[in-house]
Amino acid sequence: MSQEIRETAQKIIGKYSGDPTSLIAILLDYQDAFSYLPREALVEVSEAMEIPLPRVFSIATFFKAFSLKPQGKHTIHVCMGTACHVRGADKITEKFERELSIKEGDTTSDLMFSLHKVYCVGCCGLAPVVMVNEDVNAKVTLQKVPSIIKKYRK
Ligand code: FES
Repeated sequence: MSQEIRETAQKIIGKYSGDPTSLIAILLDYQDAFSYLPREALVEVSEAMEIPLPRVFSIATFFKAFSLKPQGKHTIHVCMGTACHVRGADKITEKFERELSIKEGDTTSDLMFSLHKVYCVGCCGLAPVVMVNEDVNAKVTLQKVPSIIKKYRK
């Protein structure tokens, strides 16, 4: 696996011909390719572009778009904005945690699901809202949680 990661990382770095200003573009490509930023890939870019590893890590941890932990195939965002919060978003988060046997912020061991909070996805009239990848699940109830998971488990 490490070898695969290193080879993919080298291909991505190669696309940018060693241009040191393209570090963020490379990290975005890593995120797309691996769904997170593997340590081996960060070492590759550090060495190839002669950027100190702590600097690469500081950029990787600064931007919310990047994750240093493997993410699930499906990302669940439970909206915790005011409209969703007053309609029971806390309980819905807890239900997802129980059903998936993980805590918010974590990923299932089979790498199928990551569970995160988000603060208002802009459709408050549909509260409570749960996004799964790009899909909006409106007026989510505790009873709907297992079927939402089932739909994406296939
Ligand atoms: S508060 Fe949840 S969509 Fe706005």
